[in-house]
Amino acid sequence: MLAFKGEEAVAIPERALFIGAQPHPALKTWPEVTGWQPLKPLAAAWERAGFPRVDGLPEGKWPLVLVLPGKSRDEALAWFAMARDRLAPGGKLLVAMPNTAGAGRFEKELCKATGNVVSLQKHKCRAFHAAEDGAWNEAVFNEWRALGGLREISGFTVQAGIFSSDHIDPGSQLLADHLPAHLHGHVADLGAGWGFLSDAVLKRCPKIARLDLFEADARALQCARKNLAGRDCEITFHWHDVTTGIPGVYDAIIMNPPFHTGQATDVDLGRAFLKTASAALKRGGKLLLVANRQLPYEAVLETSGLAWRKIAEDKTYKLLFADKRS
Ligand SMILES: C[S@@+](CC[C@H](N)C(=O)[O-])C[C@H]1O[C@@H](n2cnc3c(N)ncnc32)[C@H](O)[C@@H]1O
Repeated sequence: MLAFKGEEAVAIPERALFIGAQPHPALKTWPEVTGWQPLKPLAAAWERAGFPRVDGLPEGKWPLVLVLPGKSRDEALAWFAMARDRLAPGGKLLVAMPNTAGAGRFEKELCKATGNVVSLQKHKCRAFHAAEDGAWNEAVFNEWRALGGLREISGFTVQAGIFSSDHIDPGSQLLADHLPAHLHGHVADLGAGWGFLSDAVLKRCPKIARLDLFEADARALQCARKNLAGRDCEITFHWHDVTTGIPGVYDAIIMNPPFHTGQATDVDLGRAFLKTASAALKRGGKLLLVANRQLPYEAVLETSGLAWRKIAEDKTYKLLFADKRS
């Protein structure tokens, strides 16, 4: 199939696989683009735009594999290898990245493996592609593939690209150190990541009857399943966008809310977590959260009907505990 852009004819492949898929009107004219996207809000946007989506990366070969990586180096390189594994002989691997994510550096990396890369720079981003010619350096792809595997930190399973994949977040640690032992009943962990806070609350609070984890990153949730396996408590795992609200009513909610969307600071994301938590708490229910000190969450707690107090702070973080009034 050919599409015409100005005077120039551009070949559109019959099928493409998109790793880190995000919708764009220009893709609408393509015959078939299958998308894989581990982040729930972006996966939902891809589906709403009418594109086919897969939960796990499928086996098979495509004439074109598109890659739109996140901000982690190991994740980006692992995604290059995942793309390579799904490329048909003679196919094209195409990457797009903002310059602020190190696009120039990653273009050089891809060139190390493929020997040649064609690059376009526009809108403070780079798109670069390489055509498979039977001479790519497979040893480099083998190294990158390994970067995407499961790994361990402090006895927990993690994966490149998910939150705190190389160290325990000091803010989460501060909250874990101050969790009261009396939390009981139904508890939720919003933005649960790979399960650090869930693990801590289960160890500290023997009267918890059920713990529900809500997390947008499907890979983190998979790690959480492993990290919380075999506990003596009912635990449920939800691949879920917390900003859309959560089902259920809770005696307590714990969280270290996110405040980044992609690479940009997004305080509204944290505020939306607070509103969701407030709506899901029983009267008298408890919200326990940690946040960077400069984040203005207190006003949202008040307007959401929560009586809050600052339990502790250090030079970076504050702990806010709140009770639902009515
Ligand atoms: C600051 S991290 C905390 C992770 C974990 N609770 C911990 O303490 O290590 C915030 C988490 O929220 C998740 N997240 C971001 N946006 C989300 C959304 N809209 N819905 C659900 N989770 C989201 C991120 O993937 C990340 O795992």
